[in-house]
Amino acid sequence: MTVVGNEEKYLLEALYSGQWVGRGPKTLALEKLAARSCGAKHAFFVTSGTAALEVATLLAQLRPGDEVITPSFAFVSSANAIALRGAKPVFADIDKDLWNITTETVEPLLTKKTKAILPVYYGGSSAGADGLRDICKKNNLFFIEDAAQALGAKRDGKLIGSTEYVTCFSLHATKNLSSGEGGLVMTDSDELARRIEIQIEKGTDRQQFFRGQIDKYRWVDIGSSFIASDLLAAVGLGQIEKMMEVTEKRKAICARIQSALKKFEGLISFQVIPKNIETNGHALGFTINSEIRDQILSQYKSLGVQAIFHYVPLHDSPYARTQGFVPGEDLKNTRAISEGLVRLPIYYSMTDQEVDFIISSSEKILSQY
Ligand SMILES: Cc1ncc(COP(=O)(O)O)c(C=O)c1O
Repeated sequence: MTVVGNEEKYLLEALYSGQWVGRGPKTLALEKLAARSCGAKHAFFVTSGTAALEVATLLAQLRPGDEVITPSFAFVSSANAIALRGAKPVFADIDKDLWNITTETVEPLLTKKTKAILPVYYGGSSAGADGLRDICKKNNLFFIEDAAQALGAKRDGKLIGSTEYVTCFSLHATKNLSSGEGGLVMTDSDELARRIEIQIEKGTDRQQFFRGQIDKYRWVDIGSSFIASDLLAAVGLGQIEKMMEVTEKRKAICARIQSALKKFEGLISFQVIPKNIETNGHALGFTINSEIRDQILSQYKSLGVQAIFHYVPLHDSPYARTQGFVPGEDLKNTRAISEGLVRLPIYYSMTDQEVDFIISSSEKILSQY
């Protein structure tokens, strides 16, 4: 990660304030800024994106036997947050172009047991989300956005985070903006915000007590210790102050590489981003014939470019198999993208020369095929 602004100043202020626990002044400032920037009514800073998703599956009041539809082409935290509540992740296929789950892939999986839909915004793209939210509204289901990779991304010209349901972001060091480890839960709903404040505080009304609204705090719901230290919030605050600057630079890097590699279209395919969606330049990858993908990755490695692949589909994972979280039909787009993906390195402090190097290395490799 790169220091982009006031992180050091805020960290020192937090360090010498004596307020090292959570929900101190830096946390409150971070939450206020994050909510205002994203147009959300409430934001809560928690220990990770994983924790944010676990808060969301608590809010959904999942019970054993409930089903939640979610992608298999995802990081483990979304499916794990469902399974942690005793519910079943029902894995939907992704769209072959959008690399996200969509109405078409989700609708056939709806049953009486479905309680929620949990899409993952791959690479910061929320394509497909509107249709899924409409299904939730129509069928009285809970809608959880795994926007771990999507802070600073937009849909219909507006930043993601404003919702009557719940949006989960990660501030992990691999994300565009970071507090080292950390996450954010956002909602426009006062009722959900009231419950989140209790759930992140071990199921107690201690935050009301700290505000002097009650004379003692009590155990009022189930929850956990999701609150992150004010020291981490200080770093996150410095980063989020620069959200648009970081986002714009990353987007420009991705756009330059993608436009230079356009001439290889046919051999490679990029994630399709519909007109109403703007990503945040979190990731840039392309798919290529799976038979040559690993060879391509080794060629990048030998030139000194850290290109990687992911995700191994979750429905193929040992835990999913032992629990029977296995789809009726194979998820062919999930498999094809997972086996064909080449993800290129992108980071904020990337210099023009480094971008040129990625482009020239890609040209050298791809022109051989
Ligand atoms: C899609 C997705 N969901 C959830 C997470 C979990 O976030 P964290 O690492 O902050 O727990 C990540 C981050 O790695 C992610 O990419």
